[in-house]
Amino acid sequence: MFVCENLSVNKKGHLTIGGVDAIDIANEYGTPLYVMDIYVVRKNCERLASIVNKYYGNNALLCFASKSFCCKKIYNIMQQENMGVDTVSIGEMYTAIKAGFPSKKVYFHGNSKTEDELEYALENKIGRVVVDNITELNSLNYIAKKKGVVADILLRLKPGVDAHVHKYVTTGSVNSKFGFDIANGEAMEAVKKAMELENVNLLGIHCHIGSQIFEVEPFLLAAEIMMDFIKDVKIKTQNELLELNLGGGFGVRYLQTDKSFDIDCCIKSVCELVKSKASDYGLSLPFLIFEPGRYIVAQAGVTLYTVGCRKEIDKDIKYVSVNGGMTDNPRYILYGSLYEATLANKASEEKLEKVSIAGKCCESGDLLGEGVLLQRAEKGDILAMFATGAYNYSMSSNYNRNLIPAVLFIENGNCSLAVKRQTLEDLIRNDV
Ligand SMILES: Cc1ncc(COP(=O)(O)O)c(C=O)c1O
Repeated sequence: MFVCENLSVNKKGHLTIGGVDAIDIANEYGTPLYVMDIYVVRKNCERLASIVNKYYGNNALLCFASKSFCCKKIYNIMQQENMGVDTVSIGEMYTAIKAGFPSKKVYFHGNSKTEDELEYALENKIGRVVVDNITELNSLNYIAKKKGVVADILLRLKPGVDAHVHKYVTTGSVNSKFGFDIANGEAMEAVKKAMELENVNLLGIHCHIGSQIFEVEPFLLAAEIMMDFIKDVKIKTQNELLELNLGGGFGVRYLQTDKSFDIDCCIKSVCELVKSKASDYGLSLPFLIFEPGRYIVAQAGVTLYTVGCRKEIDKDIKYVSVNGGMTDNPRYILYGSLYEATLANKASEEKLEKVSIAGKCCESGDLLGEGVLLQRAEKGDILAMFATGAYNYSMSSNYNRNLIPAVLFIENGNCSLAVKRQTLEDLIRNDV
């Protein structure tokens, strides 16, 4: 009935999230509201950890890609789940550190890191800087030298793999803006350069080929190219790279009609490939890292909105307007990403109409979906949109000076705010 397992309908005919009545939540905390079921988050972390352990043992680390959902409390949960974290800005590193997350388990990514960010990473003993380009490599070495430290680094490489996903989320092909190209020799040059520099310590290599990938093949191909590269590095430099970070990108179901991604099979195949290549090439087994974001949090999230009005243009065009929109979920307008929804107060009623869910921004394109199957919506209904845990809150904005909603965590039937709702005062705090 629902795309996420933690959703159900109670005797009142209301949607429940992690066993809690969504209407009670909306009444108490207001809407729009991001709701995250932490049981789902933990279950996903534990599932991944057990799969990696089964096929690769403990010479591995799972890093939560915190760009998918970032606030202090999620870092606390990741720490409890023994995860590392992937960060991509000073803001994400700062949030992790303020949450008390161990900085040694933080990886710092980005194709355009500023010098301030590199300084911050070194001052806070961030575990690995994942270097994207030669300019950054030189800057990092220079900054580390000034500070009298040596920075542990990985190099981000482009394996030249097409992940067959939306062009905005494919990142491993040769014309991507991220990383060093392996095929044209740029990556090998970067390795040699990094090995010469005194204030960086090259530990390994990283790639991330894209997001929302449902096929195993692109992951396998990337792993193979990366292992071949480690072999070439050993031949050309006599040094062995001991860390292999294969990024994230595991596909998630947003719709009941979406296929399932066989994560067990994917990780098993990748681990077996890495082990067999290491043995064929006489290499040590690398410390293996995966960086899932969406897989961990997407299905944990539900966003609650209040319906404002409905507008029927003709029999085919029906708008149901809500008190949020592209400012809390820009994924439909960015990527055409589809979501399922229900009216939480009418969850046991049949869905009989297809509607466009309109946001409240002054943009015709501000929609949360078109052709969304829904019960007949009226003013005051609570609309729940499913699988909104990844890249929704973290992509939210104040466009039109809309307030960013609160984030509510549910765990074991208890609710607690993870992020307070923005106030009007917050909006003008930095205005002078
Ligand atoms: C470097 C890196 N690692 C991991 C991820 C996480 O991807 P996903 O949320 O699809 O697992 C991303 C996403 O953009 C990324 O850029």
